[in-house]
Amino acid sequence: MWKGTFKKLNKVLVTGAAGFIGSQLAYRLWKNGDQVILVDNFSYGSEDNLEFDEHNFSSEIYRKDIRDINFMEDLFKSEHFDYVYHIAAITPLPDCQSRPVEAIDVNVRGTAIILDLVRRYGVKKMFFASTSAVYENNTDFPSIEDNVTAPSLLYPSTKYTAEQFCKAFYDAYRIPIVCFRFANVYGPHIDCLRTQPPVMGYIIREFYKGNSPILHSTGEQRRDFIYVDDLIDLCLKAQSADSFDVVNVSSNETISINKIATIIAKIMHCEHIEIKYAEVGDFWKKYPQLYSSPYPILPKLLEHEVLKYTCLSNKHAYDKYSWKPRTNIEDGLQKTVDFSCNVLKKNL
Ligand SMILES: NC(=O)c1ccc[n+]([C@@H]2O[C@H](COP(=O)([O-])OP(=O)(O)OC[C@H]3O[C@@H](n4cnc5c(N)ncnc54)[C@H](O)[C@@H]3O)[C@@H](O)[C@H]2O)c1
Repeated sequence: MWKGTFKKLNKVLVTGAAGFIGSQLAYRLWKNGDQVILVDNFSYGSEDNLEFDEHNFSSEIYRKDIRDINFMEDLFKSEHFDYVYHIAAITPLPDCQSRPVEAIDVNVRGTAIILDLVRRYGVKKMFFASTSAVYENNTDFPSIEDNVTAPSLLYPSTKYTAEQFCKAFYDAYRIPIVCFRFANVYGPHIDCLRTQPPVMGYIIREFYKGNSPILHSTGEQRRDFIYVDDLIDLCLKAQSADSFDVVNVSSNETISINKIATIIAKIMHCEHIEIKYAEVGDFWKKYPQLYSSPYPILPKLLEHEVLKYTCLSNKHAYDKYSWKPRTNIEDGLQKTVDFSCNVLKKNL
């Protein structure tokens, strides 16, 4: 009888592993047989995200900051990672805008710390979670990877800068690195509890509480949404990359926020609840510190952010990695609602 243990395929570090995307990615890697090491400082993520039917990562995650250089150094020294998925970041736009030094420190310097450890400890490949928000000032659609008009808001600026550092590490050291520009991501584990959740998490939470969701402007803004499982398919396929790459992870289709609210209302049997609308600027009024300094934030910039259209080409992902999204919005939203309602039941 064979008495050995199963050989794990790869040793993989996932930063930001208690968050929405990082937790799902870590679980999929684990299910595939990889040995997964998780790091998160829980500035945003949650325990709920670490529980899966077949596995609970709660006791295995390092509750550490990626900027804790001594800890990270020891981790890289002892673990000999094959791959690193650097997912951790400060992501909410208003938080980045309100705490710029911290956002730059985590999103840019934090990425530099990971890049340098990848270089010094010979990690085979690194994957970096960037964002479609880098296209915020683009006017040609669908957006393509090699055409970015430099962004204005701090969150995409930090991500765009970090992408440049990834490129610099490839140029100088030939470390294979893939930067994923995720479109708006949805699916189980989407945050529905934080002060300013992503729009789908927010709508689900308000319906769950029996409240009217408040959409900003007319709700007719159209965005490109990608389901988290589809995104992870591409994150795994990209392990075949052997150089530097930037790839959009998107549906290449748009849907209005009103339509999303309508689908969620139907799934949750909340069609009787009225959807309300507010002025564009109201979204940011919860962050008075942005208006109170001698240089208040420009209303035009915020208006642009709320009203902006997003649509990202996924041709490169298809051509290079034979990847296409496979989840339709109704099925994806059903799974998102099911998971989020369980989280809300436990936490509200
Ligand atoms: N969700 C989306 O729609 C979306 C879209 C585009 C890009 N992204 C990118 O994907 C990544 C994951 O996004 P998400 O939606 O899962 O966000 P999330 O906030 O749910 O997860 C990010 C995780 O990083 C952790 N973190 C933050 N700072 C840290 C630090 N200094 N040290 C260790 N951990 C830290 C947080 O605690 C959190 O668990 C981010 O890099 C984000 O910029 C997300």
